[in-house]
Amino acid sequence: MQNHNDHYDVIIIGTGAAGLSLALAVADQAQVLMISKANLNSGSTQYAQGGVSAVLDVHDSFESHIEDTLNAGAGLCDRDIVNFTVTHGPEQIHKLIEQGVPFTQRTSKSGKLDYHLTREGGHSHRRVIHADDATGAAIGSSLIERVRKHPNITVLERHLAIDLITGGKFKLDTRRCQGVYLLDRDADTVKAIRARFVVLSSGGAGKVYLYTSNPDVATGDGIAMAWRAGCRVANMEFIQFHPTCLYHPAAKSFLISEAVRGEGGHLLLPDGSRFMHHFDKRAELAPRDIVARAIDHEMKRIGSDSLFLDISHKSPEFITSHFPNIYARCLELGYDMTTEPIPVVPAAHYTCGGVMTDREGQTDIEGLFAIGEVSFTGLHGANRMASNSLLECLVFAHSASQKILHELDTVKMPDSLPAWDESRVTDSDEEVVVAHNWDELRRFMWDYVGIVRTTKRLQRAKHRIDLLRTEIEEYYRHFRITNDLIELRNLVEVADLIIRSAQLRKESRGLHYTLDYPRPAPLAHNTVLIPD
Ligand code: FAD
Ligand code: SIN
Repeated sequence: MQNHNDHYDVIIIGTGAAGLSLALAVADQAQVLMISKANLNSGSTQYAQGGVSAVLDVHDSFESHIEDTLNAGAGLCDRDIVNFTVTHGPEQIHKLIEQGVPFTQRTSKSGKLDYHLTREGGHSHRRVIHADDATGAAIGSSLIERVRKHPNITVLERHLAIDLITGGKFKLDTRRCQGVYLLDRDADTVKAIRARFVVLSSGGAGKVYLYTSNPDVATGDGIAMAWRAGCRVANMEFIQFHPTCLYHPAAKSFLISEAVRGEGGHLLLPDGSRFMHHFDKRAELAPRDIVARAIDHEMKRIGSDSLFLDISHKSPEFITSHFPNIYARCLELGYDMTTEPIPVVPAAHYTCGGVMTDREGQTDIEGLFAIGEVSFTGLHGANRMASNSLLECLVFAHSASQKILHELDTVKMPDSLPAWDESRVTDSDEEVVVAHNWDELRRFMWDYVGIVRTTKRLQRAKHRIDLLRTEIEEYYRHFRITNDLIELRNLVEVADLIIRSAQLRKESRGLHYTLDYPRPAPLAHNTVLIPD
């Protein structure tokens, strides 16, 4: 661990694509603290497979990428934000190339070496640039290497942000964000760190659900912290379920990239027949909400634990060169995708809603920014199109960095902050309560607030979440905090926001599907929750 101060120009909570990009963009002019509650590469970025979408091919166009994004978003995307994101995509990709990200190149039929673009659901052109089938790891390691070498960036791993320190909450004479309370997970101590600017880049909340493609850190901490601090949160009902995670007890929902379908993979019922054309004319390449719902429907109809994904009609060379990591992992688990179909199920994958921001990542609280999956910018609408997430991380990291640099000299460093108060707590003698509540929460969210919802199921979930909230708040007030307790407190907060948002939406649209209102309402609107 590096030595660190009690104040920085910019604190960045989260070290995925969004946080790393912003850090590198401001660090020549600002002292930066980056914190991660686990290792630097613990977030979803590390696991991203398919790639990043951007208009890079001469036959593609901004108009086409914009239209595809708007279509996937089912009437709820903010057109200006889509336009802004798509048109700034190529420059961010070129920046990554300059920063050394080894995107896959292939020689075309005309003999020219060029970046290979793959195809994914909802995209009407090949526009997903990738590094084999491990794009996130390639982006993450290139950026981490630079961050580690930068003299103005201090990195704290295994440090958990507990809460934001805002003027309003501590009755200071400003509402501005002043800093963060941080739990050092190894020393078991809490410290207050001051900053001119705080950036939330803490990723999504997939761990709210029992089955998820997300890593363990995805507990929605940033959304919960911002909400408690007084920020509006929007569209939390739109949780994206990825259609194809490997069905295997040891796989922990290992993702099988949408690019497998993009490159010709077929979804099959257990009897070997294809079914997606019954649900959408784009078949396997329909947007994710449609494919995940179709799989869920067929699994329930025939009472099967999984369906199958088959690309074995392509040559073994094609499969192993396009998907070397997926192929190797499946083989390890006993499936050879060059010769047989592999079992797949849907799992919670992406949080489309989040902390409301403008196009520079500015939240409702001065000095507080949110970028990447934690944010709600208006890009994704009711359903995120594949590979638009990393794009959003990069574009908004850039725009937020420009605003921070512009304001840097005008913002005073906050004076000393109220210390963390532990005077009324003791060590817990019932850790089992925390573990039990984690399990209970994730299971009922899967059962009642999953791919297909009903009014009754949402009521059941709301009833349970209210009980859990009370129990956990009481626990939080009386016992010394631990990593698991803080995460559970945040999961409950975020689950409550998801349920409340889902209850407010009296229609089916994009990722929110309820049997009680199976059609979209004539007018599309965002679900905006405002803190008391
Ligand atoms: P993350 O990369 O998730 O990083 C979050 C960081 O915040 C971590 O460092 C974590 O430790 C830290 N953190 C969280 N809470 C705290 C706290 N309280 N205190 C301190 N630190 C904290 N998108 C695409 O566009 N293309 C793809 O191909 C693609 N494939 C995917 C495959 C998988 C398996 C998954 C899970 C997602 C995929 N996505 C993809 C989505 C995309 O990867 C994520 O949306 C994106 O990487 C999020 O980046 P981020 O920087 O916002 O957060
Ligand atoms: C995938 O590779 O299927 C994931 C892409 C994404 O989530 O955007």
